[in-house]
Amino acid sequence: MKESEFRYDYLVIGSGVAGLFFALNMASHGRVAVVTKKERYESNTNYAQGGIAAVTSKEDSFEMHVKDTLEAGAGLCSEEAVRTIIREGPERIAELKELGMKFTEREVPNSNGVRELDLGREGGHSKRRVLHAKDITGREVEQSLLKAVERDSNIHIFENHIAVNLIMSGRLGMDGPNRCLGAHVFNRVSGEVHTFSARIVVLATGGCGKVYLYTTNPDIATGDGIAMAYRAGARVANMEFIQFHPTCLYHPKAKSFLISEAVRGEGGVLKSIDGREFMDAYHPMKSLAPRDIAARAIDNEMKRSGAEHVLLDITHRPAPFLIERFPNIYKTCLFYGIDMTKEPIPVVPAAHYQCGGVVIDMNGRTDLDGLYAIGEVAYTGLHGANRLASNSLLEALVCSKRAAADVASNQLEPVEKPLPAWQSGNATNPDEMVVVSHNWDEIRRTMWDYVGIVRTNKRLRRAQKRIENLLEEIHEYYWDFKITSDLLELRNIATVADLIIKCASSRKESRGLNYNLDYPEAMPELSKQPTVIRRGELTAR
Ligand code: FAD
Ligand code: SIN
Repeated sequence: MKESEFRYDYLVIGSGVAGLFFALNMASHGRVAVVTKKERYESNTNYAQGGIAAVTSKEDSFEMHVKDTLEAGAGLCSEEAVRTIIREGPERIAELKELGMKFTEREVPNSNGVRELDLGREGGHSKRRVLHAKDITGREVEQSLLKAVERDSNIHIFENHIAVNLIMSGRLGMDGPNRCLGAHVFNRVSGEVHTFSARIVVLATGGCGKVYLYTTNPDIATGDGIAMAYRAGARVANMEFIQFHPTCLYHPKAKSFLISEAVRGEGGVLKSIDGREFMDAYHPMKSLAPRDIAARAIDNEMKRSGAEHVLLDITHRPAPFLIERFPNIYKTCLFYGIDMTKEPIPVVPAAHYQCGGVVIDMNGRTDLDGLYAIGEVAYTGLHGANRLASNSLLEALVCSKRAAADVASNQLEPVEKPLPAWQSGNATNPDEMVVVSHNWDEIRRTMWDYVGIVRTNKRLRRAQKRIENLLEEIHEYYWDFKITSDLLELRNIATVADLIIKCASSRKESRGLNYNLDYPEAMPELSKQPTVIRRGELTAR
């Protein structure tokens, strides 16, 4: 074996909730490598605030959670996915607790100290059903999983390792179906590209918020998994449905800080800058309307008034309650000079979540042998045209478990043949570095301006032209120059931007998160039909 080739049974790309939960479930079956592009905890998971939606109370039922999810999804959910994921949620929550996760509890009123889960409420939920750890649920989930992974000697984490491309048997001219055999992985510290080979490769790379100028997502969210799977020939679906979270903190110095929807769940009210409540004009659930509606309403109010933000007011709740329930949001706002107990919080919508992704079946299998996808990178059909709040951590847990069970019962044989080493150009040129950062900005701004909350055919066409030029330019120097993580991510955000525009342009209706002024109505005959795209072809609707 060459020095730079690593052999494992399972290669997991990504160390958020999906990747770590899968790794923990597979470690008793073989050796697991988890490659992750920065520090092990750095992931969307780590920043999740609101919590995990699951049916755990007597006042709630699977049927009600299913109904809320289908309604938010605006006719485009797969009912099979919705029912399966919701039904299996409580068991996964129990496993998470066994691994050490502590959810916030409260004392049952008049019970002499009996405690129960403190359930939060968020947009589109008809019941309180969101399990949370105050307002830092994601950090607690991530830490519980990491601690368990670190206790397991069969799991090896490679930090600062960014997967570049999947290694496919078809490309190597091998006989049989096109199978994923591993990945080329760039070590950001040493600058080497290693070859990882495995029986099974799992994409758990999360979402693509960084494709947009303003996002709640951390820097890792550049859609790498989508881009890699698409390049390898897998089907990708519903990329037009990018969810914009209605309430990201508006402050010149705050980079992407979310104000959880749970704040509205506890009574927070959206107001215009002159203090007028406006959500009753848009939805009967007012400030707790589903996200697509709330984000669009805010966008509309801002455009109408010319204001740069709206306000989220929860000053009517007692200060001790707010400080106890939202310690992180309170502390962070205070750091930026805003005391949420005394004044409304300035907020704006920002790109938050990708409802589409790599097409998988209910066991996490993609179209390509040996390649699985789980978590935000994957498309199961759960979210349809708009995700119900706090359903994504739930989906990641359930689908990781199902994928692990499937892999354990269908072991593919290891490929003994050594895999080829990475070949690339060696040139470095400071001018090219400027081009890379310029192109990053151009893509993100183009997507924000032309492919945002409200779309038109003309804007989509403009965006398409610009992204096509950029893709061509990136392709030209990609193979000549020495790779850097910025260049790898640039190539991926360009690919994902292209997919979002193609999917949005092909959906000739407004539904859920895809709102196009040229087709303001939903078309009944298009319901339940995802947009599916494969390299070189828009395959279905
Ligand atoms: P992530 O947690 O994003 O993990 C992806 C991992 O892949 C990271 O480790 C990353 O470094 C790695 N990676 C990516 N590309 C590569 C590559 N090329 N090579 C190597 N590694 C790579 N959902 C809820 O259900 N409830 C909430 O309360 C909630 N709050 C949220 C708040 C915020 C601010 C954000 C941003 C999201 C929130 N979400 C919430 C969404 C939810 O957090 C994510 O959908 C979920 O955590 C995704 O988990 P994941 O494991 O699929 O991906
Ligand atoms: C939030 O806390 O508002 C985020 C919840 C989610 O994205 O599901």
